[in-house]
Formats: sequence, structure tokens, C-alpha cells
Amino acid sequence: MAEWVRAADRSACEGDGCVHAVTPDGERIVLARWEGEIFALEDECSHQEFPLSDGSVENGQIECVFHGAKFDLRSGRATQLPAIKPVKTYPVEVREDGIYVQVG
Ligand code: FES
Repeated sequence: MAEWVRAADRSACEGDGCVHAVTPDGERIVLARWEGEIFALEDECSHQEFPLSDGSVENGQIECVFHGAKFDLRSGRATQLPAIKPVKTYPVEVREDGIYVQVG
């Protein structure tokens, strides 16, 4: 059953290009900020399971630092080889007391 969980302080992901690993409810998730919006994706590259939180954000995509695969922040779609499968995305809400992610 999906539920909203607090993943981080609001200050944890300030500024475009921010990449921040969190583990709300035991799930490995990466928060990424682009053009003022915060996105949440599974923190595991679909190529060889490397943490996406070690990568960087540019042009609305997060790049895996290991082999250079890229994923669309909004959809999780793989946009550059060697990854071909998408990564899971999560709904995000920025509330008064923090950044919330819907998991489960
Ligand atoms: S593990 Fe991410 S591109 Fe290979």
C-alpha cells in the first residue's frame, strides 16, 4: 500500500543539480533537483546497479557516473546507453516540514 514518508529536510536538496541519497522506509531513493523541481528515482542504475546518487544532473536527466547511462528525471526512462531499462520513479511533495516521497 502506497504511503507518503518524509525523506529529507527541505534544505537537503537546494539548488539546481542537487543529488541527494535517502532511504525512507528502507527504500534506496535519490532526490534530484532540476529547474526548481525535485524528483525522486530508484537509487540504482538499471545497467549494473550502481548508485545514481553518485552521478550528476543536467538537462533534466541524471547521469550514472559508472558507464555514463542517463535517465529522464520525470519518467525514469533510459535516455542513453548502456542502460536500456527505466528506473522506478516516485511522486514527490515538498511540505512545510520536509520533502516527502510516496513509497510502497
Ligand atoms: S552501472 Fe550505470 S551505466 Fe553502468
